Amino acid sequence: MTNSLSVVIHPAEISGARRHETQSELAAGLLATAAHISPKYFYDAMGSILFEAICELPEYYPTRTEAEIFTRHMSEMAQVIGAGATLIDLGAGNCAKAASLFTHLHPQQYVPIDISVDHLHESVARLQQRFPHIEMTPLGLDFSRQWFLPDEVRSDKRVFFYPGSSIGNFDQDHALAFLRQLRASCDIDGGILIGVDLIKDQAILDAAYDDALGLTSAFNLNCLRHVNRILGSNFDVQQWRHLGFFNAQLGRIEMHLQALADVVVTWPGGARNFSEGERIHTENSYKYTIPAFLHLLEQAGFGNARSWNDPLNWFSVIYAHAV
Ligand code: AVI
Repeated sequence: MTNSLSVVIHPAEISGARRHETQSELAAGLLATAAHISPKYFYDAMGSILFEAICELPEYYPTRTEAEIFTRHMSEMAQVIGAGATLIDLGAGNCAKAASLFTHLHPQQYVPIDISVDHLHESVARLQQRFPHIEMTPLGLDFSRQWFLPDEVRSDKRVFFYPGSSIGNFDQDHALAFLRQLRASCDIDGGILIGVDLIKDQAILDAAYDDALGLTSAFNLNCLRHVNRILGSNFDVQQWRHLGFFNAQLGRIEMHLQALADVVVTWPGGARNFSEGERIHTENSYKYTIPAFLHLLEQAGFGNARSWNDPLNWFSVIYAHAV
């Protein structure tokens, strides 16, 4: 099938079928002793726009550093991967990163996957016009829940594309489980092309997640408005502030929202009192060394890896074969 743009899951279906589950998950997180909100709630329409803006910030080095690695080494990567892949873009967003690979990689099918499907549809419609010969199959999936690839996704030469160091947003157990599921979803001709953010100087990491313009702060606070819409809660973003810093002991960036005063948050069927200074944990972003990440890939069933880094070794793009 060529020049096809099939939408497998509709946003309305997602909200209808999973609404209750989502509300229970959010309420449980808010009521936990150490309150938390999953980072997936960053990505409503506004959050997706804010994240794209963060990627343009001078402090947020991962996006541009990774892009430089791709520009410099793309031909070599394409040789290692080979043409005709079923390119499965995990967390595709505006699809721009994958699109920049098309002319080198010549995939047979492009499968962009994102939790924010509205955003995805617009991007894919534009992309299909530029690349009418590539079959495009956008999917709305939430990787924090059980997921599977539908039959529309070709089974041969599945190459998972997971750029942007999004793997860092899983803790290590979940990262391993996720990579194992990818391995189980491809045959021996498959592989994974993945961007990994590396451990570096604390000041550089801190600035990347607490930028001078306050975009990361807006991105973090915006999830409260998203939660209000889903849960019917009454968070007031003005009563909270953003925290983003590198926790060197745990090798991860942590993002929190901290109450600026005593706050009572209510929603249908629940309430929580937050004392001044109390935090809601909203995100972790793990940073790796290359040996540690290769070990993780090996444990998941990927090997024979090649890695390409920037000159400062801030970021790595790794291709590992299914073994
Ligand atoms: C999507 N993810 C890889 C980003 C990160 O760097 O962990 C999300 C982000 N959070 C704050 N800034 C960017």
